[in-house]
This record gives sequence, C-alpha cells and structure tokens, in this order.
Amino acid sequence: MQTVNRLETLREVVDDLRRSGPVALVPTMGALHDGHMALVRAARQKARHVVASIFVNPRQFGPKEDLAAYPRTLAADQARLEAEGVAALWAPSVEEMYPAGFATTVSVSGVSDGLCGAARPGHFDGVATVVLKLFNQVRPDMAFFGEKDWQQLAVIRRMAADLNLTSPCVDNIVGVPTVREGDGLAMSSRNAYLSPEQRAQAAGLNRAMRRAIAAIEGGNSVAVTLSQLERDVVEAGFSSVDYAVLADAASLVPLAETPVAPARLLVAARIGSTRLIDNMAVGPAA
Ligand code: PAJ
Repeated sequence: MQTVNRLETLREVVDDLRRSGPVALVPTMGALHDGHMALVRAARQKARHVVASIFVNPRQFGPKEDLAAYPRTLAADQARLEAEGVAALWAPSVEEMYPAGFATTVSVSGVSDGLCGAARPGHFDGVATVVLKLFNQVRPDMAFFGEKDWQQLAVIRRMAADLNLTSPCVDNIVGVPTVREGDGLAMSSRNAYLSPEQRAQAAGLNRAMRRAIAAIEGGNSVAVTLSQLERDVVEAGFSSVDYAVLADAASLVPLAETPVAPARLLVAARIGSTRLIDNMAVGPAA
C-alpha cells in the first residue's frame, strides 16, 4: 500500500489503478476501528481497488470541539489498511487540502439543518466541502460511508444528486450498516474518550433505542416513547440528550406518527464531555 501526501502523486497513483478496474474510495478521519474496516471490506467486494483517505478535517469541527484532541494513530491505521488489501492511502496535510486563499464552502440545506446540523452549526458544510474535494481528488467510481452517521450519508447523497456528480454518481454512494460492540454500542473513534465506567454506561443508549423502537412498532405514541427514551438514556448515566427524533429515513423530516415508510430513530447524547450518536431503522424496510 502506498501512502500519498501530495495531490500530484495521488493523480498518478489513482490513474494507474483505474486502468485495471474500478476504484472505490473510503473516506475517514483515521483512528480506525472495526466500523471503518467494514467499509473497506464492503469496498473490496465491489471494486477492484480501494483507496482510503485519512484527513482530520478542521472545517467540520466547531470552535469548542475536539479537533486538537481527536485521536491520531497513523502507523496503526496504515497497518490495518494494508492488511485489508487497500491499494493506496491518501493522507494530505491541512495545507495540501486547504491552501492559502481557499474560499469555497459547499452547503446542503434541508437534510443538514436539523439533528446534528442544529447541534453543530457549520459541521455539515465542512463535511460536504471536504467530501466533494476528496471526490474530485480521487475521482472514484464508488464511495463507501457508514450508516452510523446517517445524516452525513443523507447530506452526501443529496449533494451528489443536486450537483450531478459523476465520480461517483449518487447511485454509487454506498451505505454500510453500523458495526457495534458486543453490548450494542456503535463503534466510534470517540468511544476512546470514555472512562471504563462511562463505557459500561454507554451501552444504555442502544438498549434504550431498541426499547423505543419496539414501543413505536407496537403502536405506542411516538411523543410519549421519545420522552421515555430520553429518560432511559439519562438514567443509564448520560448527562444530557441533544436530540431523540423519529424521522423519514431519506428526507430526515421528523415524524409524529407510527411510520408507514422507512424511518429512522436518531439520537445524540452526552456522557461526560463526550457526544455519542446512534440511529436505527424503524417501521417498514427500505
Ligand atoms: P470518520 O468518523 O472517521 O468515519 C469514517 C467513515 O466510517 C464514515 O462513513 C462513518 O460513517 C464510518 N463509520 C464510523 N463508525 C462506524 C461504525 N461503527 N459502523 C459503520 N461505519 C462506521 O465520518 C467521517 O469520518 C468524516 O465526516 C468524513 C466522511 C471522513 C469527512 O471528513
């Protein structure tokens, strides 16, 4: 596996790969865990070559967020990617990604506005901007994202459709199911911030979500169930709930009634200073 830090080298490396078959991109911010590796494996199954990227994108972190503290484990990440048969790792510096004078922002309204967009102003502008740049830098045939970040996946698909992207086109933006720990906690680089006690408590989030989904699918009131969910999450040891929303799976418009089309239960909650998110399917399958 070749690690590439310069755009001109990336172009040569990817052009060369593309000659012998389709290229899939797996964008990440590093600190790789089994959730990321599931994306790599899904990409390996669909494409001849996998290019992974690692870039801790300053533009998607708020001023009070964990940019400086975000875990950076490049050597271990390289070893894992290499072992999974990744052809090239694109790991640009901040200066390479955002040279002096950089002035453009991609902003996707609607799907970006609520949920994490409301709690983290500017976050999805930062995500959309860097993902469009990564698409234009690598020009992959397909790209893989985790359902763990459901709203992020919706934002990227909206951008790809709205801007008529071709590398990749919206139909080749692939969502991969969330990989979880044995107790149900969704794998996340931010789980590393949890103390052993918080780590044990964190499993309560998914447990409460599964209980809420059973209640909603059983015909209970959505509003009452969501209030109960918030109480359950706090009782499990979380300090606060940013949001607990039932929403249409594609548009993310909140739903007040038992869903009749594919829906998603989406929750963000804080445990100490760590913010965790999770989401699961509710109602009819897609
Ligand atoms: P990061 O948090 O590193 O995640 C990279 C990819 O891994 C995302 O598509 C995310 O949804 C997926 N992922 C994370 N945890 C997962 C899990 N438990 N199961 C399945 N997939 C999981 O998301 C980002 O980076 C950035 O916003 C990025 C898209 C790279 C743009 O900077």
